[in-house]
Amino acid sequence: MRSALTRTLSPKWQHRARRLDRLRWVAKFKATRSVHSNASLRRRLAYVLFDPELASFSFELENEQEVIAGLAVALGQPEDTLATYVAETRADPELNEELARHVRWRPDIKRRQPLGHRLAWYVMARVYEPKLIVETGIHRGLGSLALLRALDHNRREGHPGELMSFDTDPEAGSIVRDQVQGDWRRILGSTHDRLLPALAGRSVDMLFQDTPHTEENQRLEFEAALSHAAPRLLLLDASGGWAPTLEALCAEQGGAYHRVPFRTRDHILSGSAICFATFENAPIRGGRPG
Ligand SMILES: C[S@@+](CC[C@H](N)C(=O)[O-])C[C@H]1O[C@@H](n2cnc3c(N)ncnc32)[C@H](O)[C@@H]1O
Repeated sequence: MRSALTRTLSPKWQHRARRLDRLRWVAKFKATRSVHSNASLRRRLAYVLFDPELASFSFELENEQEVIAGLAVALGQPEDTLATYVAETRADPELNEELARHVRWRPDIKRRQPLGHRLAWYVMARVYEPKLIVETGIHRGLGSLALLRALDHNRREGHPGELMSFDTDPEAGSIVRDQVQGDWRRILGSTHDRLLPALAGRSVDMLFQDTPHTEENQRLEFEAALSHAAPRLLLLDASGGWAPTLEALCAEQGGAYHRVPFRTRDHILSGSAICFATFENAPIRGGRPG
């Protein structure tokens, strides 16, 4: 019934309807089941009744030190260096006060939005100092914002880079203020049509895969990055690791697969993992662009 009603709306109004996620109590109840939440009854009830987040979550990390230690090993960096990057996210007004001010009249968005697993995205972008990051799936734009802030820090240290993000939703990325967009290329359309043409002549340093984590999407998006790989490439699977594609690609193409588990603090998603692969001198399929 609901999907029949939704289909009668134009894409623009379908996207606007998503602003009412806070009122989708049944969908939220189902979400608590699909993430196998072991949160307290009080927490689950509060989520179902009041929380506006359905497609993508923001949360605090309970085991931040362990996550930093796991990333340090996987990325071959000292823990202290990564802890400094994490501290930057706490001090950055754009990820805190300015963000809260920007969304204060938006009933579909929480005022306080901790980065959660995207803290690792920020750290990775600081470590890699990439020239080109690709993000597939923007939604409100919290991941894009984290990556843009890391790129801004890199730029001020003499390592400029660009973020190219894709989404089918014309309103995706609405939490990213104009003032912080810098060289952000927000590309509207499906990655199935837009990704490969956008990468023509470019080398990809990092790809954050966050459209639905189907085999079809992941193969297409990861292989697009592999066929345009910079000498050092990082591919991140934001599914939390339940999707098998990235590990299979590592076995096929000689990448190193990493899995850093995390726990959340007081959230219906109890925990998951940051899963990513690194490729040194990645295999070139279809020829590296100039
Ligand atoms: C999980 S959300 C992305 C979350 C975001 N990366 C973040 O950090 O909050 C998935 C997004 O993918 C978009 N999407 C779904 N299929 C897509 C496709 N084939 N191409 C581009 N975007 C797509 C949806 O519109 C949705 O906004």
